[in-house]
Amino acid sequence: MLHSKAHAEAPSFTLDQEKVSRFCHDVLEVGGELRSLGDTKDASVLEHLSRELRTSLSDTLVQIEARIADKACGIAAIDIPPIYEDLTDDAIAGALTSIALTTVLFEPSKDVENLTPFTMFSASYESNKALNDAGLLNISPTDILDFHSDGLIRGTSLGVPRYIAIYNTFINYRKCGSFYWVPTSSIENLSEHVERIGFDDDFTFDLTPAIYGESGSRIDHVVERKVRTAIFSKDADGSIITFMNGKFAGKEGTGTDYADRLKTFQTAIARNPFRYAAPQKSRRLIVLNNSSGFHARDIFEEAIPGHEETRNYLRSVSKEAVNTGYVM
Ligand SMILES: [Fe+2]
Repeated sequence: MLHSKAHAEAPSFTLDQEKVSRFCHDVLEVGGELRSLGDTKDASVLEHLSRELRTSLSDTLVQIEARIADKACGIAAIDIPPIYEDLTDDAIAGALTSIALTTVLFEPSKDVENLTPFTMFSASYESNKALNDAGLLNISPTDILDFHSDGLIRGTSLGVPRYIAIYNTFINYRKCGSFYWVPTSSIENLSEHVERIGFDDDFTFDLTPAIYGESGSRIDHVVERKVRTAIFSKDADGSIITFMNGKFAGKEGTGTDYADRLKTFQTAIARNPFRYAAPQKSRRLIVLNNSSGFHARDIFEEAIPGHEETRNYLRSVSKEAVNTGYVM
């Protein structure tokens, strides 16, 4: 089993319910009505929300920031307490709080289609089936995800975003398993892998396809992209940044078996004696120092009957990214 190793519990924080409640009533409500997620498209609204949240939760935020900035750690799980009795209001308030919190921790890039500082994903039985029928693996909530770092495409340039944040609005599965994180600095024999793969910037990868216009059982179009990139890059402080996403598709003019070397490295990450784990659950925000480690997660099992949607989550990616290559 891929994810069966011993692990350390990721640093986790629960936000103070009274303070979050005050934030919701004083900042998220306008004239007795909750703001909507779309309001965060407005830079001044987003700035206002994050500034107010920072003021009311400064002590906890300092601790969270320290854990994320520390490259030997690089992960924090933050639970947002329930505030409203009405489930819809509570879901919106939780998501808005997570967006404000994310914006305190890093500057999120805008979703290209919606211009929101996050991208919302929702999965249902219908959409899972459509994705599987279309042969698109590793996308639906029940697929296994191997250790990787997230990438970011802007125009034709490819990079590794410094930070990412994932907020589960809800997960309608009984067994949610864990989210896993291996800091790059903890990988045994890292320098040997770096030496064997090198810093060349002409490795080709097929990225995981991006799905557009997916609703219910319909998939509008799938964009498959090939990129040329470095696998390893050096950060300003000398630490290693790794592009590790999609499927390796070769390196030009070489007789060396880089596929094998990459596979060996990926196996080393999955078998690394040290890793952090954070149980996956609703209303939990997981923030990662994406450029300093690798993440993976357990599949979700045993869907809770009676819910059309199986999972809903928001994902934010920092504007700050380390450029590693380009889209071919
Ligand atoms: Fe990821």
